[in-house]
Amino acid sequence: MPTKTLPSSVQAKLLRAARKAMKNAHAPYSKFRVGAAILLSNGKIFSGCNVENASYGMTNCAERTAIFSAVAELGPIEIRAVTVVNDHGVPCSPCGACRQVIYEFGPDAVIYFEGGDGPKQSHITELLPEGFRLQ
Ligand code: THU
Repeated sequence: MPTKTLPSSVQAKLLRAARKAMKNAHAPYSKFRVGAAILLSNGKIFSGCNVENASYGMTNCAERTAIFSAVAELGPIEIRAVTVVNDHGVPCSPCGACRQVIYEFGPDAVIYFEGGDGPKQSHITELLPEGFRLQ
């Protein structure tokens, strides 16, 4: 699936929202703050940060925080794009669990993240081939 590019003004807006949310991260264990912003098909933007827990496995990634916030407020959503940033300036693509959650609401979503060679964009199905769906 070819990756559709968003206008640079929209990309910049998502980046700003993700960076702002990153400041609220609760990451006392990893000390790795992450922010995410999602663009919906209705044009709305939601953002989220990672929320860690002393019981490490309970941690929620920034991407899922943003998505769950949008669902909690709106009910059905369709994700067009996701932007992920971190405070270390290191490569950080969505984890496997987040890829599956993004796919649930955005099977045609484009993902902007920091890759090994700088900023990168990928279609969700490049990051998650054969994503799971209950038919
Ligand atoms: N994390 C995210 O929030 N999103 C990602 O895409 C990768 C990892 C968080 C989870 C944990 O709080 C910290 O980064 C270190 O793994």
